Formats: sequence, C-alpha cells, structure tokens
Amino acid sequence: MADDLRKGLEGVLVAESGLSSIDGDAGRLIYRGYSIETLAENASYEEVLYLLWHGELPTVDELEAFTASLNDERAVSDDVLATMERLADAGEEPMAALRTAVSMFSATEPEVDADHEDLEATLRKGRRITAKIPTALAAFERYRLGEAPVDPHPELGLAANFLYMLSGEEPDDVAAETFDQALILHADHGLNASTFAAMVIGSTMADIYGAVTGGVAALSGPLHGGANQDVMEVLIEIDESGKDPLEWVEEATASGRRIPGFGHRVYDVKDPRAKILQRRSEELAETGNSKWYDITTTIETYLSEEKGLVEKGIAPNVDFYSGSVYYQLGIPIDTYTPIFAMSRAGGWIAHVLEYQEDNRLIRPRARYTGPEGKEFVPLEKR
Ligand code: SDX
Repeated sequence: MADDLRKGLEGVLVAESGLSSIDGDAGRLIYRGYSIETLAENASYEEVLYLLWHGELPTVDELEAFTASLNDERAVSDDVLATMERLADAGEEPMAALRTAVSMFSATEPEVDADHEDLEATLRKGRRITAKIPTALAAFERYRLGEAPVDPHPELGLAANFLYMLSGEEPDDVAAETFDQALILHADHGLNASTFAAMVIGSTMADIYGAVTGGVAALSGPLHGGANQDVMEVLIEIDESGKDPLEWVEEATASGRRIPGFGHRVYDVKDPRAKILQRRSEELAETGNSKWYDITTTIETYLSEEKGLVEKGIAPNVDFYSGSVYYQLGIPIDTYTPIFAMSRAGGWIAHVLEYQEDNRLIRPRARYTGPEGKEFVPLEKR
C-alpha cells in the first residue's frame, strides 16, 4: 500500500476515462479525440453532449431525435417554480437555488425507482436533469426581477432557449452562437473537483440526482466554478475605483491579493478555453463596450509579463474571459457559475455513467495523526 500522501489528490490517477484529456504543459484539451477548438468552432452544445454521453458525434437523425428528447423534458413542476419564487424572494444565491432545484427534479422523475445499476435509465434521468436546469435557473432569475418565468421556446436549442427564457426575447445570432460556444467550452474537463464529487457519489451507486446535486455544490466554491463571477466583480471594482487598471492591479498584487481567473491545478500555461473566450470577448467588444475587454487584457499582460506569473506556471484559466463575455451578453453576474453548472452537468453525468460501467467504490485513506490510548474520564470528573 503506497504511503505517499498527496494533499488534494494532486497528480493522483484514480480512474481511466475516454471522455476528455488535458495537456497542462501544452495547453491542450480534447473531448473524445476532438480538440476543443474544433468542437467550439464547428459543433453545437447538443452535439457535444451527445458525443460525451454516446461516444461519437451524432448523425443528422440522431441529433434531431436527441434534441427532441431534451426539448420534451424542459418543463419543470409547479413545485419547482414555487420554490424558485420563494428562494428568489428570500434572496437566495443562484447556485444554492440551482442545487435545490436539481434535488427537487427527482420528485417528478418517472423512473425514480429504476435500478441504479440500469445505466440506460440513469442516462434518461441525466437527460431530464440537463433539460430542466436551464428552465429552473431562468425562472429563478425572472422571479428575482419580479417577473413571471418565460416558457421554453419550442424551436430554440438549449443555449439560445436559455437566453430567451432569461430575457423574454429571442437572442441575436451572435449572442446565441457565443453562448452555445461557451457551453461547449465548459462541458467537461477531466476529474476537476465537481466532476470528482459527482463520481464519488455515483460510485456508491446513489442516484444521478444526488451526483449532480453534489456537483453543483462543489462547483459553487470560489476556487472552482465561482471564479468567473469573481473575475467580473474585480473588473467592475477596477472600473468604479477610477484608477488606471494597471495602478489597481499593481496595488492589489502588492497587497498579496489573488486575482481570480488566474492559476490552475493542471494547466501551467494559458487555458485553451480562455483563448477562445478571449476572441469572443474581443468580438463582442468591437460592437459593444470595449472597456471590459480592455481591462481584462491589461490585467493579463501585467500579471503574465510584469509579475512573471506565467513563468511560474500561473496563467489565465477558463474563468478569466468568461466574465466579460457573459457581461456583454447581458447575463446577471451571479448567474455565471450556475451557467457553468448548466454546461458541466453534461460532463458530470458522462463521468458517472462511464465510471459506473466498471464501478469501484471511491474510498481513499487518511494517515491518522491523533492520540492513542486515551483514558476515559467520566463527565462529572472532567
Ligand atoms: C476552474 O480543475 C479544473 O479543471 C477546474 C476548471 C474546470 O473546467 O473544471 O478548469 C475550472 O475551476 C478554474 C480555476 C478557477 N479558480 C480560480 O481562478 C481561483 C484562482 N486560482 C487559484 O486559487 C488556484 O490557482 C487554483 C485553486 C485554481 C489551483 O490551485 P492549486 O493548484 O492548489 O495551486 P495553488 O493555489 O497552490 O497556487 C500555486 C501557486 C501559489 O504560489 P505559492 O503560494 O506556492 O507561492 O500559484 C499562486 C499561489 O499563490 N497562485 C496565484 C493565483 N493562483 C495561484 N497567484 C496569484 N493569483 C492567482 N490567481
């Protein structure tokens, strides 16, 4: 039994997977053999979801049937809507509302008693969860604005439909394509913390609702999915400070402040997803307000070159440019991490299904450093 303790499981291999592969030194990411660049430029989120769950890109007929199966499951129960309204009125955080919604979806699951070892049933449940997340999240956002939820649009795909349910208007092509691409970029990423959390739950043969609920909880942390909101809040803080961005970031780093969106457990170079999102942010800036893109690139240049973080293997990650993209699309800032969850639910479900095919309960060990042989003293004598 190996006795080398690896805090945070850094670099520890715990499974084999054909879903995605990250080359942290070269800054490369592939899903089932396709580069993330190829998929982002040529596929839709639904095609990528099909690829992750079924192993191959769909044919025209397969995609049509798959998309229809997702669309058929978009509606959420009145109980879920009522809970979203209550949580919105109570000022609940969107990620907590989403975690609650996913847990509630199981109440209307038609196959709730299906054998947890029936992976086909688990896949059908996963499809229902993936289809319902955008509806529940958009409803929560609408309730927060004091507005009624917007019913899903029967003709729109998952990405465009979410923007539609959020605003009540059909998004233009640029917004729909940009958002669809962002969902592709966030769909899977090896055994990141939230995916591993979902796998641990799935490894006990608990149901997929529990695994996805656990994934949402893990993703909400600022060291993981929560960073995209933190990046946008930093950009706004800089803008409102009235200081030159360079002056602000010099002061911030001098005070030891960690800039969100920088650094990664696996990538030692710029995240390939950040490169794609940077291009999209620049395109949106050309037709909108370039301020956010300009501030972001100023920070990146300073941290990477002046502070030499890139030489230390600390570079922009997926969250660094996603903030300015979503902000320019008019998406509320505290919805950024729930959007990450909307996309990554597909990856969580894919990993649970893959792991359960050859399941082994995930149960690591800890080296005990506590005392031995303590004498018990009765309460009245302590
Ligand atoms: C995601 O795992 C995934 O795949 C995640 C993800 C996915 O798709 O699922 O890619 C999505 O979660 C991206 C990461 C989002 N988080 C942030 O942007 C938060 C800021 N980054 C960090 O807190 C940090 O980089 C982590 C948590 C992401 C990674 O942490 P590690 O690998 O444990 O590295 P570390 O925190 O030990 O830092 C190593 C060094 C440290 O220097 P020393 O203290 O050893 O001298 O890098 C420095 C850190 O100080 N460092 C930073 C920094 N992040 C790390 N210095 C300045 N600014 C930063 N943002």
